[in-house]
Amino acid sequence: MKIGIIGLGNLGRSLCSGLVRSGVSPEDIIAYNRTASVCESARERFGIDASGDLCRTVASSDVVFLVVKGYVYEELAERIPAGAYDGKTVVSFMAGVAPERLEVLCPGAEIVVAMPTVSIADCTGIIAYTRAPAPVSELLQDLGYSFETSYDGVVKAAAYAACGLGFAAYLLGAYEDAGRSLGFSADDCAKITDMLFSTALKRGDFGKIVSEVATKGGATERGVLHMDETGVPQAVSDAVRLAYEKMS
Ligand SMILES: NC(=O)c1ccc[n+]([C@@H]2O[C@H](COP(=O)([O-])OP(=O)(O)OC[C@H]3O[C@@H](n4cnc5c(N)ncnc54)[C@H](OP(=O)(O)O)[C@@H]3O)[C@@H](O)[C@H]2O)c1
Repeated sequence: MKIGIIGLGNLGRSLCSGLVRSGVSPEDIIAYNRTASVCESARERFGIDASGDLCRTVASSDVVFLVVKGYVYEELAERIPAGAYDGKTVVSFMAGVAPERLEVLCPGAEIVVAMPTVSIADCTGIIAYTRAPAPVSELLQDLGYSFETSYDGVVKAAAYAACGLGFAAYLLGAYEDAGRSLGFSADDCAKITDMLFSTALKRGDFGKIVSEVATKGGATERGVLHMDETGVPQAVSDAVRLAYEKMS
């Protein structure tokens, strides 16, 4: 199966990396990117066929991943000849472009809408996707934790998982900052933050951990109460909801 990739930005390069790591032969990957230097570095780094030839990328592929912004693909689609997508599968990673619009932009293709995290690069991505043919579903499964859902589920996953990677990093960064404000070195903050969050994740049952650590009248309880009073849980929930609303 030949895999085409339109767009070698952050996510397109992550996809190349993940596909190659998951065992897809670089010879089976062909990519289009506007900027020649990006194509050159992708050829060197991944061993794939990358060029500025959009039509050849589509014509040579069985499955085409769309990894540019929606408004960019609207322009690119005008350069793709009629019939080019007949019998192919298009997997759109483009936030905010509904399946009905993709059917117009890629006539003749079977449409899959998917939303990955950039961590597909090392096959630890989270990918929500709409119904897909078995070979495409297998490709996505190999890139991390993948699950099939409705289009609305994909949009929700974009907020909760794809944006969520940024939210998670933001919270970890805030914890590191808190350590620095107490005078710890950057290295110690990074190490302590890593160990605290990893341990909490490994142990699971977050409510139980909080109650074990936050003894009645103690220092942890004071900090937790402060987070409750200042609306930290609500702020996290609002961030996910606002991201969802922006995309829906
Ligand atoms: N990053 C994420 O975590 C993430 C997660 C889920 C979904 N997505 C979706 O993935 C898509 C790409 O995101 P990204 O983060 O990879 O963006 P990015 O790093 O900014 O890459 C943008 C890509 O679009 C190309 N491009 C921009 N303007 C163009 C034009 N006028 N004509 C042709 N190509 C053009 C760029 O090519 P040049 O090299 O020539 O500039 C580059 O390949 C978006 O639709 C986004 O919603 C991203």
